[in-house]
Amino acid sequence: MDFIEILKRRRSNYSITDKINISDNELTEFLEEIIKYTPSAFNSQSQRAVLLLDEKHKLFWNQLIEIMSNILKGEQFEKTKVKINGFKAGYGTILFFDDSSTTNGLMEKFPLYKENFKKWAIEQNGMLQSNVWLGLKTKEIGASLQHYNELVEEFVKKEFNIPEAWKLNAQMPFGNVTEAEKEKDKLEMNKRFKIIK
Ligand SMILES: Cc1cc2nc3c(=O)[nH]c(=O)nc-3n(C[C@H](O)[C@H](O)[C@H](O)COP(=O)(O)O)c2cc1C
Repeated sequence: MDFIEILKRRRSNYSITDKINISDNELTEFLEEIIKYTPSAFNSQSQRAVLLLDEKHKLFWNQLIEIMSNILKGEQFEKTKVKINGFKAGYGTILFFDDSSTTNGLMEKFPLYKENFKKWAIEQNGMLQSNVWLGLKTKEIGASLQHYNELVEEFVKKEFNIPEAWKLNAQMPFGNVTEAEKEKDKLEMNKRFKIIK
């Protein structure tokens, strides 16, 4: 697939199924390569990821529904539950983290760049998320990007034995796509991009 074609086809896919067209081994190796070759400031490699499959994927989203039931009431909760069940209907979920021990270590080592390291940690995590999102599309797998971080972080760390220093940044449920996405408005290019010669 052509790069621009992949860029255009990557969308927020909310209607996903519990099937994909590649094996778990192929998926795992694919994700490993993406994690390995996504850049990071000072080559710090602070990005971390966890692939939840099968019952663990379902457990994650069930727990979020449970958490939401204590926060939201009535129709608001019902709507959220439908949305979360949509993520649970997928094949798996990738959790993205930043290893704060790596990032904090660099902040201490290079105090001049302290503030930059905080930003770079988020930027390089976003680069990994984007690479995974695009990469999955090359395998005809659709995904969306979710941010229930503060709500589920404690559960995730305990349940999946995640190091305390890993800071949860995003969740990406994925699976085969069942519905065409609606077109999204795009700003005129001259508002976003200038060519200067
Ligand atoms: C940094 C970032 C945060 C996002 N957070 C969420 C989110 O929490 N929940 C969600 O459903 N979509 C989230 N999105 C998806 C965007 O809403 C979506 O990418 C945008 O509307 C363009 O639509 P498209 O992905 O279909 O091209 C996020 C996207 C980015 C880049």
